[in-house]
Amino acid sequence: MAAFSQAFVRAETLFPGGNSTPAALRHGVMPMPNLAWTPEVERETAHLYEKVKAIIPPVEWPFHAPYVKAINDLKRERNAVILAHNYQTAEIYNCVADVVGDSLQLARMASASEADIIVQGGVHFMAETSKLLNPGKTVLIPDSKAGCSLAESITGADVRALRARYPGVPVVAYVNTSAEVKAEVDICCTSSNALKVVESFGAERVIFLPDQYLAKNTQAQTKVKIIAWTGACEVHERFTAEELSRYRADDPSIKIVAHPECTPEVVAISDFTGSTAAMIDYVKTKKPRRVVLVTECSMADNVSAETGGITEFVRPCNLCPHMKRITLPKILDSLVYMREEVVIDPALTQRARASVQRMIDLG
Ligand code: 13P
Ligand code: SF4
Repeated sequence: MAAFSQAFVRAETLFPGGNSTPAALRHGVMPMPNLAWTPEVERETAHLYEKVKAIIPPVEWPFHAPYVKAINDLKRERNAVILAHNYQTAEIYNCVADVVGDSLQLARMASASEADIIVQGGVHFMAETSKLLNPGKTVLIPDSKAGCSLAESITGADVRALRARYPGVPVVAYVNTSAEVKAEVDICCTSSNALKVVESFGAERVIFLPDQYLAKNTQAQTKVKIIAWTGACEVHERFTAEELSRYRADDPSIKIVAHPECTPEVVAISDFTGSTAAMIDYVKTKKPRRVVLVTECSMADNVSAETGGITEFVRPCNLCPHMKRITLPKILDSLVYMREEVVIDPALTQRARASVQRMIDLG
């Protein structure tokens, strides 16, 4: 009893003002499942291998399948869901995720979820957004070091300094920001609704942070004067218009589909620009013969698994090292040990949630 209350006191100190008991104590730790490749595992995961067989060679499946089965079993036992971003690897996206999507879709699904536990297949700001929208639920991220170059480019103090410099000018934050930054702004946006959010104030000027390229690409579509922060996505800013024009020179019928975190020069040479979900939608509905998806590598794998060979994907892709921190073994650890729990400073929660909620309420 004494030992238990000592652990409880330590937990209170670790999680001041948040969930007073760590997730492992609230939900309990489960035994680590057997991870052997057995005929039962092969049988129970066969329908999932069908979905990824074009991406994952048969020799690799025995390494993934025991994790896939163990994760899916534990999800049921724990009443947990996995929300996975479109950049998650094929085995996560196709075999264990309950919901897949872009940042806006994941935020919406997080608020609609009836599960007790949310495991975020994505980066830290996405897990924080899920926690903001579900303060009473346990939100886990399999690796809390899964960051984002955009989220790391700006702090709450930077936003306060911007407000002091531009008094009265509304502030829009891309969701790729920390809860600390979200607490200081008027509203959030994602790559799929940036223009709508910027124009929602009816103001002459808007501060937009932290992505300078999403800001410039949005500026090209509106009369509102955008004052931009200078952050960038380390994955998308590496693509150049020169490399893409070489693909076009080789094959004039090729379609170039880019994310708006790319530079305006890349966007200018593209046939379509949109959020990851909009890019996927473009490929699924237009069914181009050949396409360059100017974004993170796993997305082409995931769309090609879904479109079954109709479209050929040309891949000058760049890996997001943060997204790639999330793996099947770490997701399993999350569900066994209830780690790593996302805890947001209660002093920030209400204001940060209001910024995300205003965006969702815009529709
Ligand atoms: P989407 O909202 O378009 O999925 O973008 C999130 C992201 O981090 C892209 O790099
Ligand atoms: Fe952040 Fe870029 Fe990775 Fe998206 S791809 S999570 S914006 S670093």
